[in-house]
Amino acid sequence: MVETCVVVGAGVAAFGFVNTIREAGYQGRVVLVGAESVLPYERPPLSKQYLTGKKDEDALLFQPVSFYEERNIELRLGTPVEEIDLQRRVVRSADGNELAFDTLVLATGATPNRLPVPGAELAGVAVLRTLADARALRAALAGAERVVVIGGGFIGCEVAASARTLGKQVALVETLPVLLGRALGVEIGSAITRVHERQGVALYLGRRVVGIEGRERAERVVLDDGTTLPCDLVVVGIGVRPVLPAVVGDLRFDDGVVVDATCATNVDGVWAAGDVARWWHPRIERFLRVEHYDNALAQGAAVAKAVAGQPEPYDAVPSFWSDQYDLTIQHYGYPVEWDEIVVRGDLDEPTFTAFYLKDGRVYGAVIVRRPREMRPARRLVEQLAQVDRTLLTDPSVDLRQLLA
Ligand code: NAI
Repeated sequence: MVETCVVVGAGVAAFGFVNTIREAGYQGRVVLVGAESVLPYERPPLSKQYLTGKKDEDALLFQPVSFYEERNIELRLGTPVEEIDLQRRVVRSADGNELAFDTLVLATGATPNRLPVPGAELAGVAVLRTLADARALRAALAGAERVVVIGGGFIGCEVAASARTLGKQVALVETLPVLLGRALGVEIGSAITRVHERQGVALYLGRRVVGIEGRERAERVVLDDGTTLPCDLVVVGIGVRPVLPAVVGDLRFDDGVVVDATCATNVDGVWAAGDVARWWHPRIERFLRVEHYDNALAQGAAVAKAVAGQPEPYDAVPSFWSDQYDLTIQHYGYPVEWDEIVVRGDLDEPTFTAFYLKDGRVYGAVIVRRPREMRPARRLVEQLAQVDRTLLTDPSVDLRQLLA
C-alpha cells in the first residue's frame, strides 16, 4: 500500500515542504489542501512591489502548475479544511470530502487580528495577508488620497512606505512609542521611526484607536485623545494569531502547534511548520514561534526530510528582512529579551549594524545599509559569539576577525 501524506495549508511552509519532499526520497502520495484557490505564492512582495505596481501576480507564484505535476503532488486548492480527525486519521474539507492520511503536515499559518472597535467592519477597512487581500488593497489604494494605517509593525511600516511611494497622504497609529518596537526594540525602532517621519508619514505613537466612523465607508479614525484622522482607506496590521481547523483528538496547541526539535507533534506521524508551529529550538533551548518567510520555507523543508525518514533537529537562526523606501532592514536572531544593544555606524543616517547581547553573547543582529556585514553578523549569531563589545562597535574592526 502506498502511504498518503496530506499537507494542510498551501502557503510558504507548504511550498518549502513540497519543494524538498521528492528530492528527500519520499515516494508516497502527497496531497496539498489549501483554502486559497491560487498556487503557492511569495507573500513578501504583497506589501511592497506588488502594492506599488512593480510586480504583478504572475511574478508571485513560486512555481507553475507543471512543477507540481512533475513531482506528482496532488493539489486541492480552494478547499479549506474544516476538521482534522486525528483518531480516524482523516481531514474533512468544506465541500464535505474526507481524505485519509498516514502522515499529516500542518502548515496552516496565521490569520490577522481584527481591530476590536466600533466601525472596524466598515467598507474601506482592509487587512493584508493573502493575495486576495493584496488585490483588493492595491485597487483601493489607486482610488484613495488619505490612508490611515493602524499598527506600526511589519505590515504597517511596509504598507505606509508603499503608500507614500505612491504619493498618498499617510497617517500611522501605533500603541507602542516607536515603530517595529516589538521586533527591534526601542533604540532601533526609533531609527526606523525617524525614517518614516522624514518620508512624511504623520505618526500617532502611543495612541489607541477607539473607533472608525463613516456613513457607508470609513471616513475617519478616532483616537483615544480625541484626535480624528480623515481617511479614504484604513489598513489594519495589528498582528496575527496561529490558526488551525477544528481538531478531533489530543493535539498539543499553545499559541501554536507545539512540536519538538524535529517539528514532530505529540501525535505520531503529525508534523507542523511555519507560522503555526511552536518548536523547541535545540540551540537556545526554548520554544519559538516565528512569523517570517525564511523560517516558513526552511521549516517546511526540514519537515519534508523528516517525513522522508531523515528527521534532524531544526536549529536555523531565525531571519527576516523588510524593505521600506530605499532601506532594507536585515535581521538575524532569536526573539528573546536582550540585556543591551550595541551599535556600529550611525542610527540617524541610518547606516548601521546593531547587535543584541544577552549574557555577553550575540543573540541577534540587525543590518541597515552595511551589506558586507550581513554574513559575518549572521555567523556571530549562529555561534552565539561572546565578543568584546568595544570590538563590535568599532567600525575599523572587520567583523570576520571576531568569528570563532
Ligand atoms: P506585527 O506583530 O509585526 O505588528 C503589529 C503591530 O501592531 C505592533 O507594533 C503592535 O504594537 C501594534 N498594535 C497592536 N494592536 C494595536 C492597536 N489596537 N492599535 C495600534 N497598534 C496596535 O504584525 P503585522 O504588522 O500585522 O504583521 C502580520 C504578520 O506578518 C507578522 O507575523 C509579521 O511578522 C508578518 N510580516 C512580516 C514581514 C517581514 O518579515 N518583512 C512583512 C509583513 C508581514
